[in-house]
Amino acid sequence: MERVLVLNGPNLGRLGVREPEIYGAATLEDLRSATTGWGAELSLDVDVRQTDDEAELLSWLHEAVDTRAHVVLNPAAFTHYSYAVRDAAAQVTTAGLLLVEVHLSNPAAREAFRSHSVVGAVATGTVAGFGVDSYRLALQALAARLGGGAPGAA
Ligand code: DQA
Repeated sequence: MERVLVLNGPNLGRLGVREPEIYGAATLEDLRSATTGWGAELSLDVDVRQTDDEAELLSWLHEAVDTRAHVVLNPAAFTHYSYAVRDAAAQVTTAGLLLVEVHLSNPAAREAFRSHSVVGAVATGTVAGFGVDSYRLALQALAARLGGGAPGAA
């Protein structure tokens, strides 16, 4: 079974209480159980993690490379300025692994500073704006690509 690390950056442990009008009512635990269930349906071994610590997030991206795991990554605010996360994400995709950038909200429709992702250019693709469902769509795209789906078919 293919392994997928579902990695969540800073403040995503506050889901449910943090700006629910933007991020929804689901907690990180809700996201974890929904995402793990979708993974099982897609025959993916999903491991959901969250950290507020940039160094820990980097170590998980390095782990993905070293253990040959694909990645679904919500870099949260790191999306917009962390070249360190960008460089670690690049190591995943240059190793031939898939990395899908996800966002609960649609950053392009929010403040100007959110409209640029430094990670997007090194990701396999991006899903944003569908709440927790962004993670389901990311896993489906990943499973389709792993199943030999043609580019554009995922
Ligand atoms: C986010 C969007 C980011 O701009 C923000 O900093 C987050 C969450 C999202 O999932 O919508 O923390 O990545």
